[in-house]
Amino acid sequence: MADIVIDRVVKEFGSFRALQEVSLTVNDGEFVALLGPSGCGKTTLLRIIAGLETQTSGRVVIGGQDVSNLAPRKRGLAMVFQNYAVFPHMTVFENVAFGLRMQKAPAAEIKRKVERAAALLHIETYLDRYPAKLSGGQRQRVAVARALAVEPAVLLMDEPLSNLDALLRLEMRTELKAVLREAGTTTIYVTHDQTEAMGLADRIAVMYGGKIDQIGSPLEIYATPATRFVGGFIGSPPMNFIKVQCSQGMAKIGDASLPCPMTAQSLELGLRGEDASLSANGSGIPFDVRVVEPMGSHLLLTGSIDGQPARIVAPPTAKVNAGERVGLTVDPTRVTWIDSATGRALARA
Ligand SMILES: Nc1ncnc2c1ncn2[C@@H]1O[C@H](COP(=O)(O)OP(=O)(O)OP(=O)(O)O)[C@@H](O)[C@H]1O
Ligand SMILES: [Mg+2]
Repeated sequence: MADIVIDRVVKEFGSFRALQEVSLTVNDGEFVALLGPSGCGKTTLLRIIAGLETQTSGRVVIGGQDVSNLAPRKRGLAMVFQNYAVFPHMTVFENVAFGLRMQKAPAAEIKRKVERAAALLHIETYLDRYPAKLSGGQRQRVAVARALAVEPAVLLMDEPLSNLDALLRLEMRTELKAVLREAGTTTIYVTHDQTEAMGLADRIAVMYGGKIDQIGSPLEIYATPATRFVGGFIGSPPMNFIKVQCSQGMAKIGDASLPCPMTAQSLELGLRGEDASLSANGSGIPFDVRVVEPMGSHLLLTGSIDGQPARIVAPPTAKVNAGERVGLTVDPTRVTWIDSATGRALARA
């Protein structure tokens, strides 16, 4: 069993609190993505799990063993760093073989596992080269291959695909997912790219300001964000937030009424651009279209609802012009209500 329990971990750098009581359990064989903006504490948390950084307080338990004070090499995990440190004095083959040599694996096994990992990352033709003669993306793939080659029970990865072009990145993402699932590797994967997190992870922990705002399946965090931050960070376009008045349990916007919770003084309607549709006769929530962008699969409409900025997704063939006012129909079960004061989502009306 290689489950990971992060228990109320705090990290302070001097007077700055980089992690505030972070708790998270990753099940054996599960793939969890840590997703959040730059500086939110993703790398710090990963380095604490790996033992490369010491927590100020809290515990890290891997496979039932408290590893909080264990040296990194005794924690039984492999890590791919954000800056993809590869050994410059070793060939690609020796880089990928490194962990296996440390384990004193037989030569034939080393060869087989290196070749397998190299093929997976498409670096098999560079095995004799030194890292100085590789591109950044190739070096990064060497680092990933080196971590995969040892078939670790726990794999920690920090933005491992960040230096690849879009196409290769997509391909590597799919391959990684397949390989790690097959091997049953418990994985924590740091990224600030939401599509990567959504595509790869069983569950996503969305981090913000040294805290986990929400942890859930990709669909959960998309459909039912716990905070304004999560709604605005996940999804493309991000969720719209429209300030509304809720009176007697109903919010009126134009000639549309939506049931709303009365539990907050000041309320925002969180509406995904995909969850509104253009009404046939212009009734519903009035949306003033300012810009129409044809994206191929859909139209992206930018404009405003009640003077507040909003983005709506419409079918590719919809007849909408910039400068026009259209009406939107919304399914009340698909909206999120946010308490403006706390930024937290309220129980659904
Ligand atoms: N050694 C350090 N000393 C002081 N502050 C640090 C140190 N390492 C990180 N920090 C601060 O802690 C916060 C979290 O940093 P961290 O590297 O974990 O962010 P991140 O989420 O990985 O961001 P990115 O996406 O940019 O890699 C940042 O504000 C950073 O400036
Ligand atoms: Mg980082």
